[in-house]
Amino acid sequence: MTDIRTGFEVHRARGAFNAAFFSVMGPYIERNVRRHKRRVYAGLPATVVELGPGVGANLRYLRPGSTLIAIEPNVPMHRRLRAAAERRGVHLDLRDRLAERTGLPDGSADCVISSLVLCTVADPAEVLTEVRRILRPGGTFRFVEHVVARDGTPTRVLQRALRRPWAWTFEGCSCERDLAGLVRAAGFARVEIEPYRLHSPFVTFNTQVAGIASA
Ligand SMILES: C[S@@+](CC[C@H](N)C(=O)[O-])C[C@H]1O[C@@H](n2cnc3c(N)ncnc32)[C@H](O)[C@@H]1O
Repeated sequence: MTDIRTGFEVHRARGAFNAAFFSVMGPYIERNVRRHKRRVYAGLPATVVELGPGVGANLRYLRPGSTLIAIEPNVPMHRRLRAAAERRGVHLDLRDRLAERTGLPDGSADCVISSLVLCTVADPAEVLTEVRRILRPGGTFRFVEHVVARDGTPTRVLQRALRRPWAWTFEGCSCERDLAGLVRAAGFARVEIEPYRLHSPFVTFNTQVAGIASA
């Protein structure tokens, strides 16, 4: 069902499944990516905008007393996200909006973060344009994302083969996006991106990048 206010397609059952999946699997995913998150999320400012925070995997990188402006249109995630923010002592400003249209003023954000979100939004290039619009000059976009594997590799073959069931299960998620290329092409003043590989059983998700783009 499409939410007529945000335009986001809410799947009652898959939304609830994904909220439960990321709650249960969160600690496992976190163990795999924390080294990279610690690097790019180091020293976050007191107010952070997060795109698609889900059930709150990144709250641990904010200091207690910080404010998280959470752009999360997927209502089945909201209850767990609110509870996690309360446990972490983070003030949650939850906005039921799309990352493509956050509604935030131009140049109003010091820092925007995302993890495993640009794979799922309908139009990642449009989201990056929105991120640049809301960042103040010198502000940073910090991200950890999974990306397409190199052509000709077994991972790439699997990404192609599993494209449809993966997208169905994970509400539109694609393992076939060159997100590093999109960030580089998005017009940021400076971009640092580190590619790396996980060794998890979720093979299609193992090719990842973490980076910081400055406006
Ligand atoms: C794979 S989950 C990742 C959640 C969380 N960031 C994490 O690392 O566990 C993808 C998240 O992106 C959100 N999402 C999907 N499309 C979105 C959009 N257009 N704008 C903002 N969030 C979106 C989903 O609701 C979901 O919470």
